[in-house]
Parts: sequence; structure tokens; C-alpha cells
Amino acid sequence: MNHDNQIYVHPAPVRIWHWINAFGFIILIFTGFQIRYADILNLLPLQNAITVHNYVGFAVIFNYFLWLIYYIGSGKIRIYIPDLRTFVSKAIKQMKYYGYGYFKGDPNPHAMTPENKFNAPQQKAYLAIMLILLPAQMISGVFLWKIKGYQDYINILGGIKVIDTIHVLLFFIFTSFIFVHCYLATLGHTPTAHFKAMFTGFEDHHEEHDEEEILENPQLN
Ligand code: HEM
Repeated sequence: MNHDNQIYVHPAPVRIWHWINAFGFIILIFTGFQIRYADILNLLPLQNAITVHNYVGFAVIFNYFLWLIYYIGSGKIRIYIPDLRTFVSKAIKQMKYYGYGYFKGDPNPHAMTPENKFNAPQQKAYLAIMLILLPAQMISGVFLWKIKGYQDYINILGGIKVIDTIHVLLFFIFTSFIFVHCYLATLGHTPTAHFKAMFTGFEDHHEEHDEEEILENPQLN
């Protein structure tokens, strides 16, 4: 395969982590709905839903540590940390593009490079998801799995109702996130470009860039 006009943005460990995680989340969401709404839903028997939810939950937790070890071990975790000096202006620019510029055919204000692959709002969202929301979901899930065993910790955090509310709220946040995430992923130079890149690792690189981005990344010119 010829990769002349392409840049390698998603290394194999990231792609493997991502698709196991996405697939795991879909199963967790379906079984989660069944567990939460057992009285009105009949997707599968409640006990089976709980068993599948627990196994897949632990697989997603294990997979998360592969992500964490890869990103921290390689030092690439930097790509997740926003530059606070330019964050606000870049985020506003990007949101204007998503809400308006994209539909007029304007160039994407963010130029993707392997060292700077996320645009500003994406970076902030992914950082919150990977370092705050996902760990909170995993910890609350483990507590709900063995309530008696973790009773002391559960009490310190305000009791089982608090833990359950956190887990369910995050469940709704992640479910909504997947819709927004998939929609935004269709806004590449073709609707499937970003999806393909998450399989092959390579992103096409013939977009137009605005002057500010070219000044920051002269190799784009
Ligand atoms: C059907 C489910 C999903 C699909 C189709 C999907 C699709 C994609 C695509 C196309 C990308 C590359 C473009 C981009 O960065 O936006 C991506 C990246 C990413 N996705 Fe997803 N995604 C799914 C579920 C999830 C879930 C459940 C999470 C987290 C809870 C997630 C977290 C991420 C993160 C953190 C990245 C950036 C990864 C990196 O390059 O380090 N995705 N996703």
C-alpha cells in the first residue's frame, strides 16, 4: 500500500485498545440498560445480563490499563494535555468550524500531526474521559460488583446510593458521548476517513490548512 499522502497517527496499541473498548462499551450499555430497567425491558434474562456486564466490565478495565501503560510508557500522553495558553481561542475556532464553517466548506482549523492529533475540544473531552470519567466508572462498577467487600470505602464516599448514582449518571454520559463521538468522526475529508484511520493507523493528509496552523507546523505547507 502506498502511504505517500498519509500520516501515521494511530499506532497499533491505540487501535487495538480503541476497538476492544468500543465493542466492550456497546455490550456494557445494552446489558446496563437491561439491569437498570429490568422491569420494562426484556433483551436477555437479568442474571445473564449481570454476568455478561461483569465479565465485559473487567475486560474493559484490563484494556484500560493497556492504554494507560502504552501512553505513559511512551511519553505520548502529552498529546492529551491541552496547552492552556492557546486552548480557549483554539476551542472557539474549532466549535465555529463544527457548527458553521464545515457546512460552508471551510478548511478544518486544526492540522493533524502525530504529535498534535487532537483539536482543542477533542483534547479536553478525551482527557476528561480517559483520566477522570472512565476511572470513576470503573471504580464505582467494582464497588457495585462486591458491595459487602467494599463497604468501608463505599461508606467513606457517601454510601451505596451515591456510588450507584455516579455509575448510572456516567452510563448516560458515555451513551450520549458515543453518539456525538461517532457524528464528529464523520466530519473528516470524507465521512469514513477517520473511521478508516482508526483501523489502518493512517490518516489522509491533503487537507487545506489555515495560515496560523501552517506557521505553527511549517511541514504542512
Ligand atoms: C461505536 C463506538 C465507537 C466508534 C465508532 C468510535 C470511533 C472513533 C474514531 C473514528 C476515532 C478516530 C477519530 C477521532 O479521534 O475522533 C476515535 C478515537 C477515539 N475514541 Fe472512539 N469510537 C467509539 C467508541 C469510543 C468509546 C466508548 C470511547 C471511550 C469511552 C472512545 C474513545 C476514543 C478516544 C479516547 C479516541 C482517541 C484515541 C487516541 O488516538 O488516542 N471511543 N473513535
